[in-house]
Amino acid sequence: MTTKLLLSGGRVVNASGSTDADVLVLDGRIEAVGRFDPAALGEVERVDVSGKLLLPGGVDVHTHLDSPMMGTVTSDDFASGTRAAACGGTTTLVDFAMQTPGSTLQDSLAAHHAKAAGKAVVDYGFHMCVTDLYDGATKEFPEIIGSGVSSFKVFMAYRGTIMLHDGDMFEVLRTSAAHGGQVCVHAENGDVIDRLAADLVTAGRTGPGSHEIARPPATEVEAVHRAIRIARMADAPLYFVHLSTEGAVEAVADARSRDWAVAGETCTHYLTLDRSLYDAPGFEAAKVVLTPPLREQHHREALWRGLRAGSLGVVSSDHCPFCLEEKRRLGEHDFRAIPNGGPGVEHRFIVLYAQGVREGRLSLEKFVDLVATAPARQFGLAGKGAIVPGADADIVVLDPDGTTTISAATQNQRMDYTPYEGWELPGVIEAVYSRGDLVARAGRYVGAEGRGRFLARRTA
Ligand code: URP
Ligand code: ZN
Ligand code: ZN
Repeated sequence: MTTKLLLSGGRVVNASGSTDADVLVLDGRIEAVGRFDPAALGEVERVDVSGKLLLPGGVDVHTHLDSPMMGTVTSDDFASGTRAAACGGTTTLVDFAMQTPGSTLQDSLAAHHAKAAGKAVVDYGFHMCVTDLYDGATKEFPEIIGSGVSSFKVFMAYRGTIMLHDGDMFEVLRTSAAHGGQVCVHAENGDVIDRLAADLVTAGRTGPGSHEIARPPATEVEAVHRAIRIARMADAPLYFVHLSTEGAVEAVADARSRDWAVAGETCTHYLTLDRSLYDAPGFEAAKVVLTPPLREQHHREALWRGLRAGSLGVVSSDHCPFCLEEKRRLGEHDFRAIPNGGPGVEHRFIVLYAQGVREGRLSLEKFVDLVATAPARQFGLAGKGAIVPGADADIVVLDPDGTTTISAATQNQRMDYTPYEGWELPGVIEAVYSRGDLVARAGRYVGAEGRGRFLARRTA
């Protein structure tokens, strides 16, 4: 039986422009955007969204769900993490599938598929993390890309566990490019960081605040420059994840001005949180032990400028959650053992809307581009990121006159803290639709279990 939904009276915002219009949804897809007489539509569910913004469902291309990391596993699995995403207006994820030590890439990918299938409540794809380029690993690339996992991630930090040395990174880049894939790079000079961290521990500075000192901006900037040069030698496109510094933005802008295939994202926390959080007493700073670390104000300003200028094209969450108690269990006596990462998938959309649009840093259309349209385009997510006929009906209904208060006590992320605790933001997400289904209302999940679909992505 055909299902028809009419969202009427709202303002439809796309990256390409905004218009006052109704949205007609037929069987989970957007049928038309315009003005409709409900009486002429036959049996239709009509929802009055007068005064509300209708925005494309968020596309977050950087999450780590049910993911092994630094001796533990991220606290959100595909059920809790995707519910939190939906409640926060994100209807598509691209999650990182880690290579399991001792397993092939394809076996690791199959294991990640098994974690997500039947649990995810929003649509999802995967990037494949390559952490050990064993003999024959690159021979698996064509099949992995052909299965719809058309991007890889490599780490330039964490030697001895997940870091690839430059030669292996070059090999991943050129093989991926030869088969139409793209490579996401974690750009930090891991060897320098390891020396600085060892010095701090030798000096007795073992607390969580040392995490930032061990990872100065230059460790990111150097790695970004090196990765760009290696990608040039490999004749491969490059996508930088979680950029945090002014120097990195400049390096990416310079590469793009030469027409090199270099793209970059930053994350909500680098745009909105200050490094002074590392000065918190006790173990509190562990909440922001994430990599790269938070930076000073001038870096944040450069990131906002980079977004406006187009040198950075995407804002992701890097949702990599570990409860504070778990961070304490592993790293209370040595900051190097604190699992690196923080929560963010639930709050990326509203924090960026509030801090970007409402603070006058971004137009509404640019916000939509960064949070949905550009990530969908960058990673080949057909049918996502825009409210246009033929697209999936992934729609956020946002009330610009409402208020959002963020708190660990009310969040859906499986976490005992949020770095945005107590923030009161203008605007509230009233309802979220995924393929035409109402999945979240007023911050609570109301959809079916396990309804998310794997998205096989087209290659570049
Ligand atoms: O703090 C972070 N980002 N954790 C590790 C995952 C990553 O993206 O490197
Ligand atoms: Zn990373
Ligand atoms: Zn990450």
